[in-house]
Amino acid sequence: MKDVLLVKDLYVGYGDQEVIRGISLRITEGERVVIMGPSGSGKSTLLKSIVRLVEPWKGEVYINGVNVLSDEVDIRKIRQMVGFVFQSYNLFPHMTVLRNVMLPLEVVKGLPKDEALKKAIGVLRLVGMEEYKDRYPLQLSGGQQQRVAIARALVMDPILLLLDEPTSALDPELREEVLDVLRNIAGRGISMLIVTHELDFAEDVADRIVFMDNGFVIEEGPPQELLYKPKIDRTRRFLRTIARRLYAVNRYR
Ligand SMILES: Nc1ncnc2c1ncn2[C@@H]1O[C@H](COP(=O)(O)OP(=O)(O)OP(=O)(O)O)[C@@H](O)[C@H]1O
Ligand SMILES: [Mg+2]
Repeated sequence: MKDVLLVKDLYVGYGDQEVIRGISLRITEGERVVIMGPSGSGKSTLLKSIVRLVEPWKGEVYINGVNVLSDEVDIRKIRQMVGFVFQSYNLFPHMTVLRNVMLPLEVVKGLPKDEALKKAIGVLRLVGMEEYKDRYPLQLSGGQQQRVAIARALVMDPILLLLDEPTSALDPELREEVLDVLRNIAGRGISMLIVTHELDFAEDVADRIVFMDNGFVIEEGPPQELLYKPKIDRTRRFLRTIARRLYAVNRYR
């Protein structure tokens, strides 16, 4: 299997604060990896450093075999291969849903308008947002905005999709619609690296779960092992905290 992402002994920090302390990670074609871990453990920093939104201190990153940290690399080309969905939706408020999704195709890929339109509509259909194409982001719910953000990432045909807590800013009832869209996308064979604490979702889609704490990967394994039989006490304690929170939500169902 081809490596879509290969991270070797990565160190990243801010100022003199070391945040990622020697992480290695590999994602093969079509593989879906979920990252979990407490706040401040470096999950977002890891995702950002993969596309150099934060400059790593040391280590190696390869996307599709291309050395991302080399001085010669055209980082814009790399970013075109990688879709990034953040916790907040980052849509352009003055553009319609359709324009938001078409824009990268026209500006970055240079597609003619009719082709961009066709492609954008297709992807909006995939995330269930076709009928909202003429609305502006502020006329949509958070879940709908996040689905548009996912469409905008997908429209570029990325080889890797990075998702940083895509549902954490949403009310519980809006989460499911976004998670369903992500389950659907996961079924289409795209490689994904997802930071999430949605336990059921992680169990459904992840081939592997990586648990981070304090800048280290402290445990990783298939969902059945990591979620049900964690070996490390820190992992178990963290999962217990999330499960309690979930239980409190479920109590009123
Ligand atoms: N731009 C920044 N400048 C300085 N320090 C930062 C910056 N971004 C993050 N940090 C620090 O790096 C550490 C890791 O942050 P990061 O956002 O990667 O954690 P996280 O695991 O994503 O947390 P959360 O679950 O809260 O999103 C934290 O101590 C944070 O304060
Ligand atoms: Mg984060």
